[in-house]
Amino acid sequence: MKLGILGWDEQEHESIHLAEVARQLGHEATLFTLDDVTCTDWGGRLEVLVNDRPTADLDVILSRAQLRLEHWQRDLERLTLLSNVEGVPVLDPATAFVAAESKLIGMQELGRAGIPVPPTMACTSLQHVRAASERWGRIVVKPSFGFGGEDVERLNGDYHRARPLLERYGTILAQPFLPHPEGDIRVTVVGDDVAFSFRRIPAAGGWKANVAMGAHSVPYVPPPALQELAVRAARTMNITVAGLDVIRYGGLYVVLEINNVPGWHSLPEDKQFEAASRIIEWAVRNTCTR
Ligand SMILES: Nc1ncnc2c1ncn2[C@@H]1O[C@H](COP(=O)(O)OP(=O)(O)O)[C@@H](O)[C@H]1O
Ligand SMILES: [Mg+2]
Repeated sequence: MKLGILGWDEQEHESIHLAEVARQLGHEATLFTLDDVTCTDWGGRLEVLVNDRPTADLDVILSRAQLRLEHWQRDLERLTLLSNVEGVPVLDPATAFVAAESKLIGMQELGRAGIPVPPTMACTSLQHVRAASERWGRIVVKPSFGFGGEDVERLNGDYHRARPLLERYGTILAQPFLPHPEGDIRVTVVGDDVAFSFRRIPAAGGWKANVAMGAHSVPYVPPPALQELAVRAARTMNITVAGLDVIRYGGLYVVLEINNVPGWHSLPEDKQFEAASRIIEWAVRNTCTR
């Protein structure tokens, strides 16, 4: 089968790894990014090209697309053009993929489905952040479009510290700080099943469970109730390869966010192969039956 791997960029570990594992499993794999997507007219129809080749040459595209703040319109346009190519499924198409980019939309859709999520306020001014702080005490502020724990800050009454984030993003999210000293659980769903999971333990003195913020991951098998919740969350958002950040709080599993470009580089090597294989095999199986 001919797989297109729409990578985060040319260097990202998981993007490269997916292409390598696809080849090891006997498939053809083309790694490209949104920068490689162009269009040409072909007999009155717009043909979408990937590295100057017709997209229709591919059987399926696995997306780890990076939608960049500074190129948002162009990136969104290209992802949509690709998603519209007949006969070449994109996992996942632009509409679902873009909705999952936004933490705010994630909170809306998951909350509506009855999945526990943190109370969340969208703040466009310091007054809003102050109101959140007065309401919840210790709060966390973060961009709606972010990753890797970047610009996720904890405030304890000092709501002025949110000013640079407001200046940078215009709108930021405020949530009560939900302590999880033992870290969080990253549950990765592929299709209708949990494919791999690990706990992420924050670095000493830290509180964010992102590996990019120094957390380390340890193998973990989620109990059935958590597996069921994670699959339900992924299906609610229509994300095929979904990384759920989950904490245990107040006797509940609370979903902090859904990631549409989840990673596995913190796993031991054999587990990494297994993780990528699960994704490739799902894409192949579900494309063949279309
Ligand atoms: N409301 C919150 N209460 C406590 N910790 C939080 C809260 N929101 C986020 N965190 C911590 O910060 C980390 C990063 O937040 P997250 O919302 O997952 O954004 P990112 O996309 O940057 O990973 C989480 O893994 C968690 O450890
Ligand atoms: Mg996260």
